[in-house]
Amino acid sequence: MSPPPQKRLKQPSAARSRAPSSAPSSSPSRSRKPPRDLELEAGSSAHYENPAYYRQTYARRTHDVRYYVDLALKRRGPVLEYGCGNGRITLPIARTGVEILGVDLSPPMLGDLKKALREEPADVAQRVTLRRGDMRRVRLDQRFRLVICPFNALLHLYTRADMEAFLARTREHLLPHGQLVFDVSMPEPEELARDPARAYATPRFRYPDASSGSSVVKYTERFDYDKMRQVLFVAMEFSPVNGGESWMTPLAHRQFYPQELEALLHYNGFRITALHGDFSEEPATSSSSTLIYHCKPR
Ligand SMILES: C[S@@+](CC[C@H](N)C(=O)[O-])C[C@H]1O[C@@H](n2cnc3c(N)ncnc32)[C@H](O)[C@@H]1O
Repeated sequence: MSPPPQKRLKQPSAARSRAPSSAPSSSPSRSRKPPRDLELEAGSSAHYENPAYYRQTYARRTHDVRYYVDLALKRRGPVLEYGCGNGRITLPIARTGVEILGVDLSPPMLGDLKKALREEPADVAQRVTLRRGDMRRVRLDQRFRLVICPFNALLHLYTRADMEAFLARTREHLLPHGQLVFDVSMPEPEELARDPARAYATPRFRYPDASSGSSVVKYTERFDYDKMRQVLFVAMEFSPVNGGESWMTPLAHRQFYPQELEALLHYNGFRITALHGDFSEEPATSSSSTLIYHCKPR
């Protein structure tokens, strides 16, 4: 089995290296551009380097697809999807007849989606426009009835400045009466308290590898929560059972608490019009594991 790209990353003993890779964003700095944080950059990209693995991992996650498709049908598009990935939600929306523009930072995910579009009927493919870009910065020459940011893509916005930029871009791209809808995982205190030294094993599975075929791997996860930055670092460790080098894929998820999100939305010019706790549209409660925000500019 040939090593996937993320294999080049050095495997730390815990979910992340303890050494700070850059100054925290809140530290005073004379330069306008914040310093790069390689740890966070890897945590927002490595998991998306193998689109076949991503597709296989989330193949049974369909409840949110239905939710976003219904929303797109109700709003009738055009839809802007931030963090469209390899089209798990983009494609079903386009198949229902709604125009959608997908923005994503990951070339492998966008490449995979472009490939999938070539297999679609021409009218479906024509409804999809793709842009490689950062949802904090991309400026499009178009406004939308609906802007969506599904399945924790927002958890790759790690700082207040990131969120402010994202919400400013969203406002610029919304038509009057347009709506922003996104979903994030609820922070779970017991999950954030896990010991970073402990490896959590899950069942073995077949890891797809486009270059050398698939092979069965042992899979463990380690979790290391940075309380100051409110970032959960996950180390996903893969070991081929028939020998071969192990590798680790890092993932970094910002933890947003509901009151913090309400304040960020409010002070950036949005009001929450609905807050669901699952994809069957039940209101969010303390026991919800997902938070789905519907917002409008105020
Ligand atoms: C969890 S995936 C969600 C993909 C897709 N929406 C889905 O539901 O399967 C998060 C996506 O956000 C993208 N992403 C992360 N940070 C981003 C940023 N700053 N701007 C645009 N896309 C970003 C990643 O490349 C990845 O494809």
